[in-house]
Amino acid sequence: MAKHRLHSDVERVLITEARIHRRVRQLSREIGKCYGNDEVTLITVLNGSMVFLGELLQRLPMPTRLDSIVAHSYGTHTTSSGRVRIRRGWQLPLKGRHVLLVDDILDTGRTLKLIRDRILRERPASLRVCVLLDKPTRREVDLQADFIGFQIPDKFVVGYGLDFAERYRNLPYIAVLKPQIYRQRSP
Ligand code: IMP
Ligand code: MG
Repeated sequence: MAKHRLHSDVERVLITEARIHRRVRQLSREIGKCYGNDEVTLITVLNGSMVFLGELLQRLPMPTRLDSIVAHSYGTHTTSSGRVRIRRGWQLPLKGRHVLLVDDILDTGRTLKLIRDRILRERPASLRVCVLLDKPTRREVDLQADFIGFQIPDKFVVGYGLDFAERYRNLPYIAVLKPQIYRQRSP
């Protein structure tokens, strides 16, 4: 596999590319064990979960359907505004289905709680949550993920789909940026 040079805006790599791939393989096995041969409807929260979902999906052993929603809570800041908006909802019928909600990161929990509560109104057969990253110390609402890639400390991270002001999603690892980059926010 090609080696990527460290991006000059990166202060520290928190989770390497190799560790991410290893963990995603394990996660897909854990998820497969949980559902057996049942069909699962994955609902992924765009844009942040795109890269994670892409890799996870290929490795899931059970039959799947895929849908997505667009939600926003951060804008261009590194702290949550507390306001969550669902810009586009799911399209598939969810009643009586096993639904797995996939997101990049569980931070305050507001985004996934709002989405989870909306999905529950559709009366799915089951609803579980899978996140690549979890920042447990930041939680503001009562929400636990059923499948978690990594627990991380309270740091704003980028890479592997996660952005700062829509940038750095293409980094293949999870990293913390240099403090001056977070300060000099530009559109
Ligand atoms: P929550 O509603 O506070 O849990 O925020 C969840 C959303 O905020 C995630 O889906 C991300 O889009 C974004 N977010 C939270 N923490 C980070 C981070 O460290 N880096 C990049 N995005 C983040
Ligand atoms: Mg997101």
